[in-house]
Amino acid sequence: MRIDPWSSHQYADYSRLRDEFGIEPFTYGEEMAKLGVDSALFRHGVVFGHRGFQSVLRAVQRREPWVLLTGLMPSGNFHLGHKMVIDQVKAYQKLGAEVFIAVADIEAHVTRGMSLEKAREIAIDQYVKNYLALGLRPERAQIYFQSRRQAVKDLAWRLGRRVNWTTMQSIYGFSGETNMGHAMAPLIQVGDILHVQLPEYGGPRPTLVPVGVDQDPHLRLTRDLADASRVYSVQATEQGVGLFVKPDDSVKDHIERARKALADAGFSRVKENVAYKAAYVAGAGPDEVPAIDAALAALEASTGNYGFLAPAATYHRFMSGLTGDKMSSSKPETSVFLTDPPDVVKKKMLNAKTGGRATAEEQRRLGAEWDKCTVAETYTYHLSPDEADLREKYEACTTGKRLCGECKGIAIERANAFLKEHAEKRAGITPAILEQVVRDD
Ligand code: TRP
Repeated sequence: MRIDPWSSHQYADYSRLRDEFGIEPFTYGEEMAKLGVDSALFRHGVVFGHRGFQSVLRAVQRREPWVLLTGLMPSGNFHLGHKMVIDQVKAYQKLGAEVFIAVADIEAHVTRGMSLEKAREIAIDQYVKNYLALGLRPERAQIYFQSRRQAVKDLAWRLGRRVNWTTMQSIYGFSGETNMGHAMAPLIQVGDILHVQLPEYGGPRPTLVPVGVDQDPHLRLTRDLADASRVYSVQATEQGVGLFVKPDDSVKDHIERARKALADAGFSRVKENVAYKAAYVAGAGPDEVPAIDAALAALEASTGNYGFLAPAATYHRFMSGLTGDKMSSSKPETSVFLTDPPDVVKKKMLNAKTGGRATAEEQRRLGAEWDKCTVAETYTYHLSPDEADLREKYEACTTGKRLCGECKGIAIERANAFLKEHAEKRAGITPAILEQVVRDD
């Protein structure tokens, strides 16, 4: 199986994805609640998988700097599916993230033929304004364009040196017909993700990329290229935490520099084995690996290397469309757009696919099928303010106490109240506020 980030296929067999690609189950809902973010997105498996999330959690717990980067593909109308992404970003802002959002204008151009001007217009009018109205805080947040950020494009070229065409073919299924712009798009995305660790953007630090699972190929490529950028590879061993020098020359110098950097970071018991291109921090165990690795990454960054820490990723499910098919901005009936008027919302939701039974009598007797219902999903993702409310909706549904018509009525009322408030907030987004977050370099 291969994941194609540009197809319109929905990868919905989540356990298979985990097994086949080594994505780990996301089990940090409780822990995040303890840290002050209690959200159904994290508790109920909307965010279902991750790679390397522990590195971020550790930074949050220790109040160390970390950074979130995600990207948007400017397509069309902003809908509830897009809102789910920004709800995550808001949660992570609470946990101390510095936020970068890439507008994938180069990607939209090379894969869909969209002009950069059009991409910019859609990004600002549909995405940025809605993000801000939804509560993205402009402090320590920036939204930039791939086409305008030189550091991103430079990284694409420079890290391109470390990946060959055979690898790109096997990851993405590229062939002789693939245009070169498209072929470069993954490297641009690598540039997006890693540029936040360049010295001028804050240096090496834990990085989180929350995305849909269709983006996993890019994350695998990026994590590999981050590792490839390193001078030292750090690993727990039986002799303590080992650091292994990757280049073949100046091994002794590399080890001496590492020793100094580690002493400054509080690790003084370093034993070297130059013949083995290694040194060991005696007495240190797996828990110390992140601190040792961070100290060495910082050293690398200060001596002309990249020292990129492999970025973590979380993967979310996509909300089903209200019709039961894929949610899509080009198919209005599949989702509530954030600019829909009340009667349109009502119509869309009354037509939504539910888990209702054939007759009311049967439903009172058996209860409805919550897991098959798009309105239930809408409550989970968006309309239930808390755990208790969601539980009440679930119980009333599955015991047959509340039938679909009534349940939809409540959902419509809530959706319209939310949209009314959203429209007011959106109208209050001034050019000055936009200027605070939108960067032109
Ligand atoms: N490829 C992403 C999409 O199709 C957009 C994107 C560009 C992105 N750069 C990114 C996502 C960096 C995450 C991180 O939606």
